[in-house]
Amino acid sequence: MAYTNAQIAEVEKLLKVRITETDDKAAVLRAPELRALYGEISQLPEGERAAFGQEINKLKSELEQLIQEHKEQAEALPPIDVTAPFDANTAADKRPSLLSSELGSRHPLMTELAKILDIFSRMGFTAIESRQLDDDYHMFETLNFPADHPARDIFDTFMVEEKDKDGKPLIAPAHTSIMQNRVLKQYSQGLEHGTPISVVIPGRVYRNEDLDARHEHTFYQLEGIYVDNGIHVGNLIATLKTFLEEYYGQALEVRTQPFYFPFTEPSFEFAISCPFCEKRGCSVCSQSGWIELLGCGMVHPNVLKMGGIDPTKYTGFAWGMGIDRLVMMKQNIEDVRNFESGKLDFLRQFK
Ligand code: DAH
Repeated sequence: MAYTNAQIAEVEKLLKVRITETDDKAAVLRAPELRALYGEISQLPEGERAAFGQEINKLKSELEQLIQEHKEQAEALPPIDVTAPFDANTAADKRPSLLSSELGSRHPLMTELAKILDIFSRMGFTAIESRQLDDDYHMFETLNFPADHPARDIFDTFMVEEKDKDGKPLIAPAHTSIMQNRVLKQYSQGLEHGTPISVVIPGRVYRNEDLDARHEHTFYQLEGIYVDNGIHVGNLIATLKTFLEEYYGQALEVRTQPFYFPFTEPSFEFAISCPFCEKRGCSVCSQSGWIELLGCGMVHPNVLKMGGIDPTKYTGFAWGMGIDRLVMMKQNIEDVRNFESGKLDFLRQFK
């Protein structure tokens, strides 16, 4: 369909291309270029307005028809069989085939996690796996983050469209602490019979991070929680030091610094002397001699209460450490992004 006005012909070309490219085809009818044409009518000498206006209307109906055709075509397409293993037209030698399981190998994170859990199990801890989708209640409320409290900003989380029973979006957990309340409730009965709560919780966690060699949006944490009569900070430090010296196979010095988490009071950042340079300073510890490894503290009384435990009778400690970080240091891996990259060159080094 030819348009005598060059400006209208130009917009015609542009918008027809846009219709083929955009997913929201109906939006093309509201395109600023089309609106601008309508806007120009009043600027024209009176004698030219009618013809110009008619051409724009013609263009608009042509676009409407095109959009309608696209819609009908899309509806008429046969549905794609998403369960089909490959397109039946694919040449035989190009078809995907299953790798034999002998060619595969364990992921280095999982190999190391098995070693980590083995050490904790020898120290008397039970392991419970974390989960990959959770609600606001476990991510924040049971961990003593009041609603709308700025402390929630520490965790810039991913949410999904699906809602929990309170109408709040479900969350891809930013830490394995989401499991604390469940663990406390599950094991609180035992305390009365003299059985301490001693659980470690490995899990995959997600954060909205600026990615670099030390930050990944998806990584693994190991949470730990221990509750009994008369538990104090000394027990926390001794437990973590024992684990870390066993894992790294050498004596280490440890250091704590005050920190803030809503779910512990007091809270600490926990560092070890650099296992690579014995505190002399090297590239791994940024010349400082120390490596920050994890967050920890004494479980906040409100967290115990919400877990059905009387904080005047029992106290406990908890921690959360990045498994990727631990493994990077042990295996001399320089970039955390290797773990999730699926690069065979990287993975095959750990076969
Ligand atoms: N959840 C914290 C984080 O991801 C780490 C943490 C700190 C866990 C203190 C704890 C804790 O259990 O007591 O940064």
